[in-house]
Amino acid sequence: MTASPKICYFAGVLTFFGQFLVGYTVDVLSLEGVEWINSLQSTWQAEFKYPRTAPALVQNSMIPESDDTQGEIAELEFPINGRKEEDPGWISTVPNRFDARNYKPWKRCRRIISYVPDQGPSEFVGYASAVAAAASDRLCIHTRGRVRLPLSAQNILACCHNCGAYDNVYGGSQYNSWAFLTVGIPSGGGFSPRIGCQPYEMQPCQHFDISGDREKCSVARIDKAKCQNRCTNSKYTKSYSEDLRKVQSFEWLSTNETNIFQEIMTYGPVTAGFDFYEDFISYKKGVYKHIGGRYITHHKVKVIGWGIEKGEPYWLCINSWNKDWGLHGLFKISRNNAKVNFEYSFSAGWF
Ligand SMILES: *[C@@H]1O[C@H](CO)[C@@H](O)[C@H](O)[C@H]1NC(C)=O
Repeated sequence: MTASPKICYFAGVLTFFGQFLVGYTVDVLSLEGVEWINSLQSTWQAEFKYPRTAPALVQNSMIPESDDTQGEIAELEFPINGRKEEDPGWISTVPNRFDARNYKPWKRCRRIISYVPDQGPSEFVGYASAVAAAASDRLCIHTRGRVRLPLSAQNILACCHNCGAYDNVYGGSQYNSWAFLTVGIPSGGGFSPRIGCQPYEMQPCQHFDISGDREKCSVARIDKAKCQNRCTNSKYTKSYSEDLRKVQSFEWLSTNETNIFQEIMTYGPVTAGFDFYEDFISYKKGVYKHIGGRYITHHKVKVIGWGIEKGEPYWLCINSWNKDWGLHGLFKISRNNAKVNFEYSFSAGWF
């Protein structure tokens, strides 16, 4: 039996308007929401992970304690050297795709560069993981692979008070974190194994996927980060003050893509920030562009490369939500207006 043309027409009209209706009311974290995202575009694929838990996200906020001395960076003066384009080592010719993990001259730094951190149960502290990771890469690259130690995200989190998470919404400042590195931070890896002077104190957790083995981030306990000027890893033999590493300068980068490519290829990965909306949670693969959902916070990540996929130019980034999110912890985001203000938000520091 065939439906009458009238009924088909009516159904068509309903579907047509239904799309707009869904656009306004859809819960992008629901199964329908994920299907809606996937039906609207083909540059990236969303994956259904869990029912909405955004209220829990906001509950899970953390304000670092502010009763110590090391965080007083606001009054210092910082050298701003510019992007060192006069450097004879400056790489001016860049390829149209690049992945720092596979770049031959940096093969001694490969493990450091490839590391996917887990920022723990607070959604507002990605800046510390991102800046610490990019700085570790840059230190390794700067020393031609001689210093292969992660720098401490814990120290940035606990000791830099104008770095972030203060209003539980803004998501922390990559720029002030780089500035803080001119004062110096010690070494320190993730929660486990405990590597370096001040390893991360927050446990890895299951970020946006209830199917995994770890405790869900939304219910995990958050302890306030406490600034310490000693090595908290008893197995680490250097003293805290001996262990501090400093950048010489730091800066917001130009918004010129080519210059950012050159910067990354010359000195290593950089950090970038963007508006983090709910649809980003369901990212599985492809080149992300914002489609819908509620705004959560301003998130920061490490940028390790670029490329073009199915005609869509992208930045290649390492997130701090462990390896079971996205592309084994990584994601690609459009260089052709991802609608999250990614293009104006790059920064870096130089050893
Ligand atoms: C971006 O930088 C490159 C290299 O310095 C330069 O050749 C190009 O003209 C710049 N593009 C824009 C739009 O400024």
